[in-house]
Amino acid sequence: MKFIVCENHSHLAEVISDLIIQQVMSKPDSVICIPTGGTPIPAYQRLIEKSKNIDYSRVSFFNLDEYIGLPPTHEQSYQNFLKKHVLDPLGIALSQQHLLRSDSPDPILECLRNDAEIDYFGGFDLMLDGIGENGHIAFNEPSDHFEARTHIADISTSTRLANARFFDSLDEVPHQAISVGFEDIIKAKHLILMATGSRKASVIERLVTESTISCDFPISFLRMHPNVTLVLDKAACGRSIDVLINTGQSL
Ligand code: F6R
Repeated sequence: MKFIVCENHSHLAEVISDLIIQQVMSKPDSVICIPTGGTPIPAYQRLIEKSKNIDYSRVSFFNLDEYIGLPPTHEQSYQNFLKKHVLDPLGIALSQQHLLRSDSPDPILECLRNDAEIDYFGGFDLMLDGIGENGHIAFNEPSDHFEARTHIADISTSTRLANARFFDSLDEVPHQAISVGFEDIIKAKHLILMATGSRKASVIERLVTESTISCDFPISFLRMHPNVTLVLDKAACGRSIDVLINTGQSL
């Protein structure tokens, strides 16, 4: 695992947006899977600002996950979020946007459809993700098993509480989501994880100090991934900051 320690959230946005642009420049037909959440928003803003001369016409974008049951026009549907914050401003054509549907009449079929599309494109060249405070990745929540492929996930109470800040009330936060699974995460050629703020410090400390892999701490699975870059701001490093700065790249 490679670590990049940034000064703060806006510095992290510079690093992440540069990494995405490098990916597209080195492989113009890249298949990229991207997240929602609070962490990537400044990175998406910087990406849009820096992308005037970048050709995205052959890039395919997927999303990591999507709530079940929200209308696609809902401010918090992940499809709507990604269109608004990154895909539409970058000028990504609809044919290049492979997004999960929050209003699918048959979520199981929606999972299978997503797997078939991922397979058609040969998997992800780059997957970008945030990290949940409980160690979730996408909507792979702490559990007694790992899910391999796109699946219906029960959203944990702690994640619903964390995400309630984006809704008018906790009651509005859906209880289920569709999420990519670990097979597609592990097969992504490059996985970039990002975390900012002291709320993430304890999960980062656990990731850095433990060495076991267990489904009750899903992010631990990434210890098996051969090409992970963890991009953190100093606040997210918590008490592991010295270890991270010594073993990683401090920018
Ligand atoms: C979002 C996703 C989640 C978030 C995680 C962190 O598509 O897959 O795993 O990345 O919950 O969210 P923020 O960035 O809001 O702290």
